[in-house]
Amino acid sequence: MRSTNAGRSPECRILAIETSCDETAAAVVADGRHILSNRVASQIELHRRFGGVYPEVASRQHVLAIQTVVEEALADAAVAHVRELDAIAVTNGPGLAGSLLVGVNLAKGLAFASGLPLIPVNHLEGHVYSNWLYPDSSPGAESSASGDGIARKQRSGSASEQFPALILIVSGGHTELVLMEGHCRYRLLGATLDDAAGEAFDKVARLLELGYPGGPAIQAAAESGDARRFHLPRPLMRPGRRTERQPDAQVSPLPTVLPVHGEHRFNFSFSGLKTAVLNLMRQLEREGAEARQTQTAADIAAAFQMAVVDVLVGKTADAAAEFGVKQVCICGGVSANGLLRRAAEQHFAKIGLPLHCPPLFLCTDNAAMIGAAAYYRQSYAPARQHAATGQRNGHDAEAAAQATPRDFLDLDVYASLPLVDSMQR
Ligand code: KG4
Ligand code: ZN
Repeated sequence: MRSTNAGRSPECRILAIETSCDETAAAVVADGRHILSNRVASQIELHRRFGGVYPEVASRQHVLAIQTVVEEALADAAVAHVRELDAIAVTNGPGLAGSLLVGVNLAKGLAFASGLPLIPVNHLEGHVYSNWLYPDSSPGAESSASGDGIARKQRSGSASEQFPALILIVSGGHTELVLMEGHCRYRLLGATLDDAAGEAFDKVARLLELGYPGGPAIQAAAESGDARRFHLPRPLMRPGRRTERQPDAQVSPLPTVLPVHGEHRFNFSFSGLKTAVLNLMRQLEREGAEARQTQTAADIAAAFQMAVVDVLVGKTADAAAEFGVKQVCICGGVSANGLLRRAAEQHFAKIGLPLHCPPLFLCTDNAAMIGAAAYYRQSYAPARQHAATGQRNGHDAEAAAQATPRDFLDLDVYASLPLVDSMQR
């Protein structure tokens, strides 16, 4: 821990690096909550012409951008040299192997040269801890924050120490409902059986030729769409009449749906919904209509978005009630979706359960969330690979004593496991 001036408690400052997909990101985070810097170099423009992330292009671009991004993150945080920090954290999976390697190798090099401990972070655990960051502390918070109700409320408090917490992770590659029993202690309740929610947004946007990335494109198109013109299925849900589940008319004018009974109660499935959109488009064309005509595409986008949100909110609400959780957190790229945020906010406000969604700039991939997860992991998870850090910070000293000096450099960039499988269930 760094010594500070009299009157201030020592803080643990971590440099975090994230290159799991198409964002080159670096941040400095203090005590897992305070964002001292947060730099993200987006590759969206580069991949737009391919309609999706082109892995080889992504890893080459990371190589070009990473050094500048890290230097800028250090400069923003007024860190003159890496040695002033307490640890280096890096995403080591899941993600694209070629992209992960760039961040992991730089982090290894920095750790080796500076003698600082290296903390490998599961990308999904990063998304979880995006809810524990104080958005207000970020240099870019005011300009990047969404301005919606949740982001404004967040400025006075992020996720709390109240457990169990229910976490809905919705990103481009994952859709998981996780019961968080304490810091770094997870139980997987359900996950997608096929496509992730973000993947479904991206694929439907491609079908409708709305652009890339698909989530924001669908949301934008849906704003001028009528979600009631077409009815799309709510996969792994059944019709229901419980009024407390019904968000107000503006959010969901359709009949309430409830999760199915049985083993798939907390699981998701979005590939059939995407096929339903394709079938609807084919049917419209057979009837002589143009499915990609601006208003029709907007109506399809709105119907699709509402179907996804109904499922996500319905299942999250059901799990929250079943497990008696004390707070609910939504995270991952799809948590930037305005309708999802409004629908979840309305439901959980009605039943008086605290809901947290990160501000928009922390929903999609960033390194601040990796720094936050690293802090909590080194503080709460007694794992061999974190032993060196534990020793520095007084936690897990026994494991630290048994660790060989190179233990913490052994990273597995090929890890592509869900959050819970790679830790304890
Ligand atoms: O978490 P993330 O940045 O990367 C992964 O870990 O996958 O999530 C990216 C996903 C993409 O599928 C993107 O289309 C989706 O998040 N996304 C959205 C929105 N913004 C990003 N989906 C729906 N509505 C949005 N506003
Ligand atoms: Zn992500």
